[in-house]
Formats: sequence, structure tokens, C-alpha cells
Amino acid sequence: MMSKKRSLTWFILWWILLQFLLEVVNSQVKLLQPQKRISHTATFINDKLYILGGESLSTDPTIEEITQNEFFYLDCSESFNTMNLTWNFLSNIGIPSRWAAASVKGGINNYTLFLYGGFSSLKNDLNLVYTYDTQNSSWNIPNINEYNITNKRSLGAIIDYNGKMYLFGGTSDELGVSNDMIILDTINLAFTIGSFTNAPSARFYYGSTLLPNQNIIYFGGNDGINILGLDVVKLYKKK
Ligand SMILES: *[C@@H]1O[C@H](CO)[C@@H](O)[C@H](O)[C@H]1NC(C)=O
Ligand SMILES: *[C@@H]1O[C@H](CO)[C@@H](O)[C@H](O)[C@H]1NC(C)=O
Ligand SMILES: *[C@@H]1O[C@H](CO)[C@@H](O)[C@H](O)[C@H]1NC(C)=O
Ligand SMILES: *[C@@H]1O[C@H](CO)[C@@H](O)[C@H](O)[C@H]1NC(C)=O
Repeated sequence: MMSKKRSLTWFILWWILLQFLLEVVNSQVKLLQPQKRISHTATFINDKLYILGGESLSTDPTIEEITQNEFFYLDCSESFNTMNLTWNFLSNIGIPSRWAAASVKGGINNYTLFLYGGFSSLKNDLNLVYTYDTQNSSWNIPNINEYNITNKRSLGAIIDYNGKMYLFGGTSDELGVSNDMIILDTINLAFTIGSFTNAPSARFYYGSTLLPNQNIIYFGGNDGINILGLDVVKLYKKK
């Protein structure tokens, strides 16, 4: 009788210890947080906010490398606490390492992340456009004619209701700070160049959004010398 009781006590103690250890492991998993960053892309696709790359706020080269190669999302279909977000890490094997790139949700089925331009620290991922298919979780390099299409950085991307991605201004080695408009049709996979008529002055790091009447509003930013104010609001009227 006595020994049965004792082994029961041991079993209970062992069980409590096991639960405690599981708790520690669990809390460490939950505490896994992405590096703080700037110049990443944030793309909202089917209730998930996908964050890719960016620059670290740290000067440590190891942390910088981790930041540039992190890919994770926030599930916005569940309620969340902004003080304690649960980030879900995605595989970063074979992902383009990027900062100051531009991204939208587009493609035939409207669930593909399109990534354009930006800086890369790697030599083997210098393609202009990458896609991430959120349904089969795979990265691809789409076959698009990129003849004379500039690789720009530090610009915003707008997608219209017809799957066209508008890439205004930004900076590049070829053009410096520019005010050109590159348009990528994410359904037919083709680039075109937009008109310069009435274009806002050259700028990067600006704000932009699509209006209900299908014009795009551009405001503020930086022209390479000055921070531009809200007085430089311009509309891009799509034909
Ligand atoms: C953060 O949320 C997790 C559940 O996702 C919870 O276990 C943890 O206690 C929370 N931490 C804080 C500091 O609120
Ligand atoms: C995922 O789907 C895309 C089409 O959206 C296709 O091009 C790609 O080959 C698929 N990848 C895998 C691993 O199935
Ligand atoms: C290439 O694009 C630049 C602008 O980025 C333009 O000035 C030039 O005329 C284009 N060249 C050709 C051959 O289309
Ligand atoms: C893609 O979805 C958005 C809403 O998230 C919608 O406004 C847009 O028209 C859709 N694009 C296409 C090409 O169906």
C-alpha cells in the first residue's frame, strides 16, 4: 500500500515537472519575435499581413542579415493584442533578401504577393520581380519581359482593381531620384511605361493611395535634398 502511494506521489511530481518544462518551452516559442526593422514590405492577402525583409535598427551585421531574410505574417482573422502580437514565421529558404522594395497583392487569382525592385545583399537573387503564391507557399520568378525596365528602390506600389501595379518614382542607379511611372500588369505579366504628363516632381519615401475614383494620390516624400510637405499632393489619373 505504502509503496503504491509513494509511486503515485512520484508520478504526480514528475507530471508537474513535465508540465512546467512544457510551459517554459511554450513560452519561449511564443516569445520568438521578429527583429525590429524599417524599409520592409507589408502586404495584406486574405486576412494575413505578410512582412518581408527590411533593414535592421541594429548595427550588428548578424542581426542585419537575419532581418533582411525574415518572412512572417500576422493572422488578422483572429483578434489580437497590439502589445503582444503572435507572429507566424514562414520558411526563408530561397526567399529574396530585400529592403526598400515595393509589393502588392495581385495575380490571376488575386492571392499572389508581387515583389518589385529594392536592394539585395545577395548576389544570386538579383531578379527584378518575385512572386509568392500564398496558396501553395512557394516563391517563383515570373517570366516577364524586363527590357529597359529600371530596378528602383524606396518607392510605394499601388495595385488597381484590374491587377495593374503602379510603380512611381523612387531611386535607382540609372535615374537617381526619379518621377517615372512603371506599370506591371500582374495578370498578363507585362511591363509598360506610364506617361510623364503632369507627373509629380521626382521623389522617394512618399505616401500614395488608390482613391475610389481610381486615381492615385501621391503626397510628400523626399526629393533627395528636402523632405517634401503635403502641399505637393498630386493625382495620377489612370486612363
Ligand atoms: C502574450 O500572448 C500569449 C498568447 O499568445 C500569452 O501566453 C502571453 O502570456 C502574453 N504575454 C503578455 C506579456 O501578455
Ligand atoms: C504554386 O502555384 C504557382 C501558380 O500560382 C505555380 O507557378 C507554382 O509552380 C506552384 N508551386 C508549387 C511548388 O506547386
Ligand atoms: C530606356 O529607358 C530610359 C528611361 O528609363 C529612356 O530614356 C530610354 O529612351 C529607353 N531606351 C530604349 C531603347 O527604350
Ligand atoms: C483583388 O481584390 C481586391 C480586394 O481585395 C479588389 O478590389 C480587386 O478588384 C481584385 N482584383 C481583381 C483583378 O480581381
